[in-house]
Amino acid sequence: MRVEQEIDKIKEDALKELSSANTMDGLQAVRMKYLGKKGDLTRVLRGMGSLSPEERPRLGQLANEVRLLLEDELDRRLAELGRQEQLRQLAGEALDVTLPGRPVQRGHRHPLSTVLREIERIFTGMGFEVVQGPEVEWDYYNFEALNIPKGHPARDMQDSFYITREMLLRTHTSPMQVRTMEQAVPRLPVRVIVPGKVYRRDDDATHSPMFHQVEGLLVDSRCTMGDLKGVLLAFARQMFGPDREIRLRPSFFPFTEPSAEVDVSCLNCGGEGCRVCSGTGWLEILGSGMVHPRVLANVGYDPETAVGFAFGMGVERVAMLKYGINDLRLFFDNDVRFLHQF
Ligand code: FA5
Ligand code: MG
Repeated sequence: MRVEQEIDKIKEDALKELSSANTMDGLQAVRMKYLGKKGDLTRVLRGMGSLSPEERPRLGQLANEVRLLLEDELDRRLAELGRQEQLRQLAGEALDVTLPGRPVQRGHRHPLSTVLREIERIFTGMGFEVVQGPEVEWDYYNFEALNIPKGHPARDMQDSFYITREMLLRTHTSPMQVRTMEQAVPRLPVRVIVPGKVYRRDDDATHSPMFHQVEGLLVDSRCTMGDLKGVLLAFARQMFGPDREIRLRPSFFPFTEPSAEVDVSCLNCGGEGCRVCSGTGWLEILGSGMVHPRVLANVGYDPETAVGFAFGMGVERVAMLKYGINDLRLFFDNDVRFLHQF
């Protein structure tokens, strides 16, 4: 076949195939077939060298014109198909302004935050003020000023995360008893609660290495263990319902005398005994007692004229009791299947 005829045939075939291809992939296949590295027209253009010097310019020009024509046609078809595709999509996604809106997914409070707010609401209702303190604390406030000298065995129960020898992550909110009284002395009464995070070397179903406490402190010219018990019972009934029982067990804290731990009847098993309450039917929620005269004296109150009570409540334990949760670690796993239930 003469080169000229060959070029004409390529042109006609290619144009026909370009107009009948109706997908992007189809168009690209036509491009490859004629204009690609091994395409028919490319091969003709490469073969120009073997033509006679008279023929070469004319046929070279012809082949180039065909190449440009095919490239233009290809671009036009690509754009056309692109537009058609877009129109098809738009037709499929027709906007219906009367459809109801898609609901926005809203978060909500973590159960611990809910319980903390509830605790604050109950105690502010009884005249307590909410204050906060540092999570990194001096050994002095965390232990020493609370009548727990270096080497005292009570430190073992709170085996701690130290920053330096004199500074640690607080193991309870009780150091705020001391800080608060230092600020207040000699003013009476002092009535505060202190919510916050505390840290210990603990880890099981009812003990977490980081957990929350709410400290309570009341100091006045007169105040008894009966007042402590009354405040805690009022709290328990508001938090857990009017039928809830609490019990005070004699206990020991170096910074209160006498001391008591307070249990609430286990909601998980109804008092029969289960994993949550270690089979006892009760769950300890707080430690408490009458502020030790030595602690009062440490901060400058006269133990003869000032008397007070204090308590330190575990917020996770309160939340477990309130919602019947049997593993405290659920609060910190952040599994949304758990969190969505509150
Ligand atoms: C104290 O921390 C004392 N500071 C409480 C106190 C304050 C006594 C004021 C007297 C006067 P205790 O170590 O028992 O005490 O902890 C208090 C509460 O924190 C416990 O009753 C429990 O509810 C909670 N708790 C203790 N350890 C953990 C833990 N690892 N994880 C979760 N909750 C805990
Ligand atoms: Mg205890």
